[in-house]
Amino acid sequence: MTDLLLAPSILAADFANLQRDVELINRSKADWFHVDVMDGVFVPNISFGFPVMDAVHRYATKPLDVHLMIVQPERYVDAFAKAGAAAITVHYEACTHLHRTLTQIREAGCRAGVALNMQTPVELLTDLTDSFDQVLIMTINPGFGGQKLLPLSIPKIQKMRRLLTEAGSSALIGVDGGVDLKTIGSVLAAGTDYAVAGTAVFGASDPLQAIEQLKKRPTP
Ligand code: DX5
Ligand code: ZN
Repeated sequence: MTDLLLAPSILAADFANLQRDVELINRSKADWFHVDVMDGVFVPNISFGFPVMDAVHRYATKPLDVHLMIVQPERYVDAFAKAGAAAITVHYEACTHLHRTLTQIREAGCRAGVALNMQTPVELLTDLTDSFDQVLIMTINPGFGGQKLLPLSIPKIQKMRRLLTEAGSSALIGVDGGVDLKTIGSVLAAGTDYAVAGTAVFGASDPLQAIEQLKKRPTP
């Protein structure tokens, strides 16, 4: 069994001390930086754009996993690739031509990811399993950090795992939202490869220890 990959979300960092928080993650056992970009249209919140992405990229020594919660993400794929993204995840619900956008992400030199909101069935990806490198199951309604994981997302992770196994796909399954020491066991048991965690890392009194504990694969 490979180790759980952990991607702390910069959304929960202290933006007045961004360099400090990025360097903290550099020193930790975390695997990626998760960069949440929100446009106030696709989700009811605005987070940040290129100036913050550039600042994170300047100091980060681990891959940047960019999660675009924006409409028409194809308009910004190339710019985020240039800004240093290692992976770019777009939402199924935001893409009219998902296959084209995933191809564009790979052509820009990044891992291609697709995120599914709660209402979007995993089966809708059946025909595209060769076209993405990672799939992000939203375990909350996106837009804000600090929410509680919705239990109805757990069977969805299992379904996604079955679908990828049947298709012979090696794409990674990620979860995003409400991941903490209480919930990580159940998402792992359901078949998760990587987990995003914002509040559980940056809200902890000792973020380095929190990362280690989250990566330990606690039993559900
Ligand atoms: C929510 C974002 C998440 C969020 C996770 O829309 O996509 O990545 O930052 O934050 P926590 O871990 O606090 O739920
Ligand atoms: Zn995210």
